[in-house]
Amino acid sequence: MTRTSFDFDTCPERRATDSQKWQKYAGKDILPLWVADMDFQSPPAVMAAIRERAEHGVFGYARPVPSQIEAVVDMLFARYGWSVDPSWLVWLPGLVVGLNVTAQAVAEAGEEVLCLTPVYPPFMSAPKNSGRVSRPVPLVLDRAARRWEIDWEALEKAVTPKTKAFFLCNPHNPVARVFTRGELERIGEFCIRHQLTLCSDEIHADLVLESTLPHIPTGTLGEEVARRTITLLAPSKTYNVPGLGCALAIIPDAALRRRFVQTTAGIVAEVNVFGYVACEAAFRHGESWRQGVLTYLRGNRDFFIEYVAKYLPGVSIEAPIEATYLAWMNVKALGLKDPIGHFEGHGVGLSEGRFFGAEPGEYVRLNFGCPRSTLESALVRMRQGVEAR
Ligand SMILES: Cc1ncc(COP(=O)(O)O)c(C=O)c1O
Repeated sequence: MTRTSFDFDTCPERRATDSQKWQKYAGKDILPLWVADMDFQSPPAVMAAIRERAEHGVFGYARPVPSQIEAVVDMLFARYGWSVDPSWLVWLPGLVVGLNVTAQAVAEAGEEVLCLTPVYPPFMSAPKNSGRVSRPVPLVLDRAARRWEIDWEALEKAVTPKTKAFFLCNPHNPVARVFTRGELERIGEFCIRHQLTLCSDEIHADLVLESTLPHIPTGTLGEEVARRTITLLAPSKTYNVPGLGCALAIIPDAALRRRFVQTTAGIVAEVNVFGYVACEAAFRHGESWRQGVLTYLRGNRDFFIEYVAKYLPGVSIEAPIEATYLAWMNVKALGLKDPIGHFEGHGVGLSEGRFFGAEPGEYVRLNFGCPRSTLESALVRMRQGVEAR
């Protein structure tokens, strides 16, 4: 087991709770390694802050207090050297909301939004939800370099007079890449040249597993890029609080921010009191826990990669998992029509690659944000699934 001063090996029972992840297979012996939350308890400081807020006992409509705003601004400066003016923050109940609002705020019906696929499904569905058009541009796997690359030529070709925005996911879900400064600068230049709004989903920023690959916020790439950028971030993935519904859009340009906020009017719910409290506690007091969970996740990732290579012939991890607790697995060589159904039949619940833009039967995604024992049991079951094919 990987040693940290926090116990990630032991987790509370989530069966028969409100957990989406576990409810999906209620009453079945299927280990859920699909939706992206972790089975770990949140940092003790987050739990203590929520308890203290609960004791107050009054839960009226909330607004962030100055210390909560400062916690975000201070964290972004300390961790990324990003100087953010408090007026740039727009609090949201979630990032998917942010993607949908952005599509409506910066494009008219029939206008187009670019993204790089495979990608977290709402990148493609958010524009469509309001009659905008999603234009997916496939990432290309450089097999020799074991790296997913942006196809710059295809990206240029995908631009039409109707293209209004680029939805970037960095670090990228599901291919787990941390884009380099060079790539990000080129994306910035591309967006400036084509006058696109750059919506940068950085929800996985604090989950970079490789210390040699720094996360670079798009908002730090210079004023010209920042002016057209809407950055989406949250404490939710890192500190395992997505159920508390607290996220942020950071929009330096006042006119763009006004348009974004106008679009939220009447349709976006307020952040709840516990969301604000958890966010402040996580950003102010969660760093040692975050280091602990990163150590544990690195251990899980390494164990997972080794296991797949040794015992799951026909399953391939085509590139390093640089960030996130999500693994993108090519299962095409198994020749299964329905890999999800097949592995569910062997007791493991994975995410369907098709929803991320992959071909049917080609890819599945596995969530290793769980105790090592759960991961190990799931892999043993997958091995049986591979052997039984
Ligand atoms: C890239 C990315 N963006 C957004 C989300 C979801 O964000 P939220 O729950 O805040 O809507 C996820 C969840 O997996 C994600 O991976």
